[in-house]
Amino acid sequence: MTRVTTLRKRAALAVAMATLPLLAACGSGSEAPKAEAPKGGPAGAPTGGPPPPPPYQMRAELPGGDRLAAGRDGEALFSNRCGACHLTGGMGTNLITKQMIAAGRPPADALLANRTDLNPDYIRSVVRNGKMAMPRQTRVDVTDAELDAIAAWLTRTDR
Ligand code: HEC
Repeated sequence: MTRVTTLRKRAALAVAMATLPLLAACGSGSEAPKAEAPKGGPAGAPTGGPPPPPPYQMRAELPGGDRLAAGRDGEALFSNRCGACHLTGGMGTNLITKQMIAAGRPPADALLANRTDLNPDYIRSVVRNGKMAMPRQTRVDVTDAELDAIAAWLTRTDR
């Protein structure tokens, strides 16, 4: 028992001794000259990092008018209601990119706006029921009239 305790104490002492030079090295490192803040950018911002993020608001404004009425702009509705996940950089786009690549299809097809293989019934079903990582959208999120306009725009044939 006593012998074990002594051994433990010795081990602790050895660890402490081994750490001392490391601590000393840290101390001298902090005396190194500090990097200068880049000119023109915010003070202290690192240089050479990734490009600046796109503007925060990428989605279109919600088009005006009665949300229960037909005939509103499907492209703007898609951007506003679905765009947080389905525009460039959205998590829907990111996940579908992976699926497209796995299926040997062009990654550009991850943007629903580029797809030509969707049909309105499928779109309505995915939106109302959800699919895997996509949460279902209620009729408060997207009214039936809005969903019809979005589905019509996503399946447009004039392109
Ligand atoms: C909260 C994020 C989110 C929102 C909002 C969202 N989606 Fe999605 N959507 C996803 C994700 C994530 C997937 C991929 C699901 C998976 O396979 O894991 C997806 C998949 C889909 C698919 C299936 C595509 C395929 O290849 O099968 C359709 C269609 C779709 N969404 C339509 C819409 C429409 C239309 C809207 C707007 C009314 C919308 N989504 C809003 C996240 C979202």
